[in-house]
Amino acid sequence: MIAIVAAMTRGRVIGIGDSLPWNIPDETRHYRKLVNGKTIILGRKTFEAMKGNLPGLNKIVISRSTVQVEGAELCGTFEEALEKSRAYGSDAFVLGGQSIFELAMPYADMMFISYIKKDYEGDRFFPEIDPADWNVESRQDFAEFEYVVYSRKR
Ligand SMILES: NC(=O)c1ccc[n+]([C@@H]2O[C@H](COP(=O)([O-])OP(=O)(O)OC[C@H]3O[C@@H](n4cnc5c(N)ncnc54)[C@H](OP(=O)(O)O)[C@@H]3O)[C@@H](O)[C@H]2O)c1
Repeated sequence: MIAIVAAMTRGRVIGIGDSLPWNIPDETRHYRKLVNGKTIILGRKTFEAMKGNLPGLNKIVISRSTVQVEGAELCGTFEEALEKSRAYGSDAFVLGGQSIFELAMPYADMMFISYIKKDYEGDRFFPEIDPADWNVESRQDFAEFEYVVYSRKR
């Protein structure tokens, strides 16, 4: 199973520069619980921004370069990252950022999305979700976000 895990505004904003536009501890706790002990895949920039504070057991970082990524495996393509996660024998949770969500979208089986209720300015976006491709499995309401689980239509 390949899953995307993201938080976004209703306008699909996920980030501003290298940061999140919001600080919502409840949402952070929620996603950390989901990916704790799992294989995570993320872009080099998100890794740089979050390293030291990353959930997940096996960490796979995607980069075109050969930078050193301490505590993580480096892959040159998204497909290579998927192969690596299969070798770990576990589900893969794709944690972003924008460029990696775009690469993951065609492969994802599930999406775990937190829709942040307040509006925020940003310059990084989540790809459009085509309702023709996705079923809504569940919706849960929290004070500052709505949590929606999607599965791909087969
Ligand atoms: N709200 C959320 O759920 C969430 C989650 C994560 C991140 N974010 C936000 O997203 C933003 C970061 O997104 P981003 O798109 O700028 O950066 P990113 O996806 O985290 O990382 C981009 C880097 O990934 C590598 N990369 C991208 N496409 C590649 C490809 N096709 N092949 C090989 N390597 C590739 C490149 O690394 P090299 O430069 O090393 O080659 C590129 O510079 C930040 O604002 C962050 O806060 C939001």
